[in-house]
Amino acid sequence: MSKIKPSKGAPYARILGVGGYRPTRVVPNEVILETIDSSDEWIRSRSGIETRHWASDEETVAAMSIEASGKAIADAGISAEQIGGVIVSTVSHFKQTPAVATEIAHKLGTDKAAAFDISAGCAGFGYGLTLAKGMVVEGSAEYVLVIGVERLSDLTDLEDRATAFLFGDGAGAVVVGPSKEPAIGPTVWGSEGDKSETIKQTVAWDQYDSSTDKFPAITQEGQAVFRWAVFEMAKVAKEALDVAGITADELDVFIPHQANERIIDSMVKTLKLPESVTVARDVRTTGNTSAASIPLAMERLLATGEAKSGDTALVIGFGAGLVYAATVVTLP
Ligand SMILES: CC(C)(COP(=O)(O)OP(=O)(O)OC[C@H]1O[C@@H](n2cnc3c(N)ncnc32)[C@H](O)[C@@H]1OP(=O)(O)O)[C@@H](O)C(=O)NCCC(=O)NCCS
Repeated sequence: MSKIKPSKGAPYARILGVGGYRPTRVVPNEVILETIDSSDEWIRSRSGIETRHWASDEETVAAMSIEASGKAIADAGISAEQIGGVIVSTVSHFKQTPAVATEIAHKLGTDKAAAFDISAGCAGFGYGLTLAKGMVVEGSAEYVLVIGVERLSDLTDLEDRATAFLFGDGAGAVVVGPSKEPAIGPTVWGSEGDKSETIKQTVAWDQYDSSTDKFPAITQEGQAVFRWAVFEMAKVAKEALDVAGITADELDVFIPHQANERIIDSMVKTLKLPESVTVARDVRTTGNTSAASIPLAMERLLATGEAKSGDTALVIGFGAGLVYAATVVTLP
């Protein structure tokens, strides 16, 4: 028989606070039109995007994360020393090691919190949330900070018509902590590595030659990704509702990854969400910020009063990998 004592975690976990940081510079479609042959009308009708934010040199991955996290910690009503885990989901931190999470944990003033980065593309927030829930329930941390942060403008080829208008920068963070009742449902997640070529970095860092190559950027097969998102992700979203025991009628808020407003519209239709469900459309003014998009959209819905604390929300992230993660949560 094992001599190891069982872990003592919380019965359940919930999101206790949320915070966001959007870079100061707002970039309208007109700026994108300086480098690609397109139009404001085309970009709006095909993606829903009107403006996005681009980070300055000072708005680093760490700096944006610290701003968003400070707000999330205040919103949760706890202090940074109480945080036992910091998970940073990003694909645009350019230093392989050490993890940027350790710098963020230190600068926030945590008490030596466990800190690590994960790479799960646009599903990164859902992956981090699932890990955080596990840590709180298992008892290895009472409070865990989950940060989604990107500087995708660094990885955008402004001459690529398929992607130049899509991406933006920003950071979103949530604090996950103990709960007496279920407030983060089971996650439906997975990967489809056979489709890994549909969204990828143009050149690997170790094969990049600055004298001949363009700086590495994210490239995608737009239509293939669009079809996958529209057909497959609606099924994943439905499954997340089912395993949480929530019907579409019982849902208050839908926060899908902010990739493209047409994908959002299509999912709303396939899921037969009633008019009463508030749908996040932060993509219009934030663009696609990958791992940051769901917490940023969540923060905005709560800040504008379109959603309220205690609402039941379905969140689903999907993207490069291809990977996905969907779960039902109670809003902080
Ligand atoms: C990128 C995306 C908006 C492109 O829209 P699309 O309808 O698939 O566009 P296509 O590539 O099929 O091109 C359709 C037409 O628009 C043109 N076009 C392509 N990009 C254009 C642009 N930026 N501006 C104007 N015209 C453009 C094409 O030349 C083509 O013209 P044609 O019909 O005369 O040949 C769309 O594929 C998409 O949203 N994909 C998913 C992207 C996404 O969300 N990725 C992240 C997932 S995490």
